[in-house]
Amino acid sequence: MITDQRLPQPSIAYPADDSVYPATRFIWDPTPTPLQSLEISPQIRDKKIVIIGGTDQAAKRIAQLLETHGATIYRYQHDGLEDEQAGEAFRQRVGMIDGIIDLNIEEPFQLAKHSAWETSFKHSVSLLKTYHEDWLAETDSTRLFYLVVTAMGGLMGRGVTELSQPLGGLWAGLAKTLCVEIPNCNIRILDLSSHDFPQLASIIASELYKWGLFEIGYQNGIRYTLVARKEEVARPDLNIDAQDLLLISGGGRGIGFALAKALARNFGCRVIITGRDPLPSGDEKWVQMDAVTFKNYQQSCLKNLVPGTTIAVARRDIEQLKRRRELYQHLKAVQEEGLDIVYEVCDISSLPQVQALLAKIGPRLSGVIHNAGVQTPTRLPAKSMQAFINTIQTKVNGFLNLLQALNGKELKFFNNVGSMTGRMAGAIGQLDYSAANEGLARLGLWAAHFQQINAPLKTICWPTWEHLGLIINYQGATRYMAAMNVEEGLYHWQRELLTSGSGEITIVCPLRQILNLNPIIAKGYSPLLELPYMEHYYAQGFYLGELRQFIPYRYLLTQHHIDARITAAFSEFKVAATPALPISLLLEYALSAGERIVPDGMSNLNLQEIHTLTVNVQALKQDPDGTFAFEREVLGDWQADKWVVDVKLTKIGTPGREALAQLQLVYAPEKPQPETAPTIDAASWPDVVLDSADDLTWMGFVFKRARWKRGTDQLLVGELLVGEVESYHPADLWVLPVPPTSQLPLSQFENIVRAVIAQRSATTAITTLTIECLKLYDSAAAVGPIIGNTQENSWYVMDQAWERTLLYLQNLKV
Ligand SMILES: NC(=O)c1ccc[n+]([C@@H]2O[C@H](COP(=O)([O-])OP(=O)(O)OC[C@H]3O[C@@H](n4cnc5c(N)ncnc54)[C@H](OP(=O)(O)O)[C@@H]3O)[C@@H](O)[C@H]2O)c1
Repeated sequence: MITDQRLPQPSIAYPADDSVYPATRFIWDPTPTPLQSLEISPQIRDKKIVIIGGTDQAAKRIAQLLETHGATIYRYQHDGLEDEQAGEAFRQRVGMIDGIIDLNIEEPFQLAKHSAWETSFKHSVSLLKTYHEDWLAETDSTRLFYLVVTAMGGLMGRGVTELSQPLGGLWAGLAKTLCVEIPNCNIRILDLSSHDFPQLASIIASELYKWGLFEIGYQNGIRYTLVARKEEVARPDLNIDAQDLLLISGGGRGIGFALAKALARNFGCRVIITGRDPLPSGDEKWVQMDAVTFKNYQQSCLKNLVPGTTIAVARRDIEQLKRRRELYQHLKAVQEEGLDIVYEVCDISSLPQVQALLAKIGPRLSGVIHNAGVQTPTRLPAKSMQAFINTIQTKVNGFLNLLQALNGKELKFFNNVGSMTGRMAGAIGQLDYSAANEGLARLGLWAAHFQQINAPLKTICWPTWEHLGLIINYQGATRYMAAMNVEEGLYHWQRELLTSGSGEITIVCPLRQILNLNPIIAKGYSPLLELPYMEHYYAQGFYLGELRQFIPYRYLLTQHHIDARITAAFSEFKVAATPALPISLLLEYALSAGERIVPDGMSNLNLQEIHTLTVNVQALKQDPDGTFAFEREVLGDWQADKWVVDVKLTKIGTPGREALAQLQLVYAPEKPQPETAPTIDAASWPDVVLDSADDLTWMGFVFKRARWKRGTDQLLVGELLVGEVESYHPADLWVLPVPPTSQLPLSQFENIVRAVIAQRSATTAITTLTIECLKLYDSAAAVGPIIGNTQENSWYVMDQAWERTLLYLQNLKV
């Protein structure tokens, strides 16, 4: 029995900038999620929708129903043309389209026909390529969609008794990254059980134009999505020792090679690693060269092209030489270390080669890690069809080839190497890679459920490993998610191998601010609340509202309907005795817009100040019917060396549009200059009640009333105020299972407003509130007292130690 001592947890020093961070293990469970309304969206009317793939019968049923709701439906036919010609001919005939329903492969999966995806997948890609440019130019976030139908039992392949067509996972993966390439393309992946399939048309009709979560399943009429749950791996219950022979596809370099070394070192087992290139003998001159000589050799190959070749071919050959040199050096190093690691040539996407390899290995084989992978990081218009095919063949056909060649052989484990790009979304240029990884994960679920393999089968969806392996743009990748330390990754991996059980496992590092930049993805998944920093992103998702228009890095238009049933805000605050939206909460909505509109490639700008806030106080009142709705318009632009985001809030209820508030969020690369509060000793100051019989009133249930003291200081002119106030609890403000937090200290802000109003002498109704400048330094720190200098009209919200200013307000006027 392997104990934890044989695999000690590595002790790792993580960098202070959080670029590498401890990973968390999640399992995704199907969880019921009812549709808010079964009514068919009126937005279907006048839309031009294309149905691709599936059977004509299914397409006809969908078309008939959608046409009765005013849509125009087209069937995408290839008419025997080449892929790109077919797409163009279709566009000539049909013109611009609004949405695609992709039925892909409807017939059940057969292992013997495992390349059945190729033709349908090429058709889908050619249609998407055809409309890529048109769709990229679209700024309306409500119009475009790509809806994929899969047949995996209605629970996205999990815990089911039927899983008819696991290859649908390829389209699921394609869809998840499509909205990264086309930011205003809404995504829905509908997984139906065979029981629900006859209702396909009505399910699609009820789902269209109710965007949000990407993955939705129907099983026996119940609607599901996937929700991530943190779960530690169990204690190891499998054994690996010197008797074991393990196969790692594509283990000649990258993370597969790192695992091969770890397994051979820790357990003394034999590991066979594979790749497409033959192992150099060591006699080749380009193997014997030192690094500098090899560099010069590469340059001479490019300068003196072999007659008949091109520069592209020469570059490709050089890349291959580099890979082979690396392979040779790796094998030499493990030989010197005495590790039992052997290299075999085998293209995993070729069934005969895989069969020959397994025959050569023989019956001792006790575990398989399908790790081989390639990708072509190119945007959709430039990505060749062959690139899609190669990437998918390596992962998906490679897996199915192994399955066929193993032919029921019993193993201790079978492990698939997947990626978070398949589980959630890849980066721009990773459509093929995302499709391949999600295809692999869903095939893994299928094979485990139907015992297509005589072994526990896990697919691990990995985050980016720290500077190791197939990472095209490391900086770019870590802008989406922190990277995982290599020693930590190897520890997780070996623990998974030593623990029985099947399924899809995701190993996730904290998500990054940049995810906020794609609002469609921000709404696409239920939040991984147990991840570090996730509270903030969850709140950002909450304040995002309903998307209307979006231009990446520039413009966002959203609508917000604040339902009084889910918030105590309107019973807390009143304007002229009418329930009203507290100003701090309105400001929180405005503030959250800033993270959505940042200049391209500069997600690390710091908020310097919130400039010239103007609030139309009378417009904060709830409408007579108890609703409150507003529109938020956000526009970002450079002003000299500052990135300035203009936010305009407009009330859109009864009687019509009315200006609500406006402000500017000012960002710059440097940290904002701290405003230092006066140092005071208020212990002996008398208490003072700051309240007035004004037309703004607070109940004090959510935002507790501050206990104020008033005094003076020898060194300062004018009166000083110190207010102790309890911070608000998000659960007191929101009636939601997970109440969103706020960046602003709302309670402190409301008490500053109360204090300013209490000091005004005018008795007329308050119409406008303005703040010249507001600086937010730290939204996460524990909040302490308020210090106010009434002469200067400056207000400081301190931390609990009275040392740091967390929020500063200058010139709050009503
Ligand atoms: N590195 C990461 O951050 C990361 C994150 C998530 C997932 N992954 C996954 O980890 C796996 C390993 O990738 P890596 O990052 O270590 O990249 P890598 O260094 O490029 O390694 C990929 C390996 O796959 C082999 N390979 C490619 N096509 C093959 C084929 N048709 N037949 C046999 N072998 C083939 C390559 O060998 P030859 O070129 O010699 O054939 C190479 O050994 C991939 O599945 C990748 O998707 C990596």
